[in-house]
Amino acid sequence: MILDPQSDAIPPEFLLSLLSQVGVGAFTYLRETGSTNSVALARLADDAPTGVWLILADRQSAGRGRGDNRWWSEVGSLTCSLIVDADQFQLPQSLWPRLSMAVGIAICKVLERDPWRLAMQLKWPNDVYVEGKKLGGILIEHLEKKLVIGIGLNVNQRFEGAPRNVAERATSLLIEKGQACDRYALLAELTGAVVEMLPLVACNDIDIADEASDRNLLLWKRVTIRQGTSSVVGVCEGVDTDGALLLRSEAGRVRVLSGTVELSGN
Ligand code: BTN
Repeated sequence: MILDPQSDAIPPEFLLSLLSQVGVGAFTYLRETGSTNSVALARLADDAPTGVWLILADRQSAGRGRGDNRWWSEVGSLTCSLIVDADQFQLPQSLWPRLSMAVGIAICKVLERDPWRLAMQLKWPNDVYVEGKKLGGILIEHLEKKLVIGIGLNVNQRFEGAPRNVAERATSLLIEKGQACDRYALLAELTGAVVEMLPLVACNDIDIADEASDRNLLLWKRVTIRQGTSSVVGVCEGVDTDGALLLRSEAGRVRVLSGTVELSGN
């Protein structure tokens, strides 16, 4: 495991050891940055690392979500990006639309186990919820065939300084469990779960439709999906094996591959 010399924070030895056990080859640890995904994309423009590269920031000041969304976070959040080579994991571009749900499923599986035992939910295409409140989000970007899997998770925070729209809709592990958790151990566990998920996507060994169905926050709800200037309205009937959202609209069954979801008066 290589600790990136451009790191400006010092990781504890046990974190380096946990990360190398779960397959991380290079680690960049930053005290503060705008967005770990932006750092990843900028670094990829001049570096071509082999193996899995993890970038962690203790504080992220300009976190990005899908589209024009911002990701608000504070000290105590987990904000990181995992860089993986699509060719190394045998992930052709045709499989990339599945990754967001697959990573979400990997995160849910960790937080459904001991010691968390949370009732996890997924909101297509990239949000992780618990008890109807947003716990985390996933932003997957790429530079050529290097995938950047950005994960934001609310861990040891209470949203006292958060904007109202965030505070009303979000939760954290601290709020759900009533106690602070070891962010480093959680980071290693989540990273391991995501790294293990990638070959399952490559070999079609994960049934995304089935794994998403029990956790689907949108199931049987009426939703509007906005795609640029157009929109589709329908009742969510599930998520397909390829990660598409299945809607029953007035025109019949529609498969939606991307867009922004609004729950419409359920
Ligand atoms: C969303 O809610 O639309 C996705 C949010 C993803 C946030 C994470 S935090 C780490 C990584 N860096 C970013 O700028 N965004 C992702």
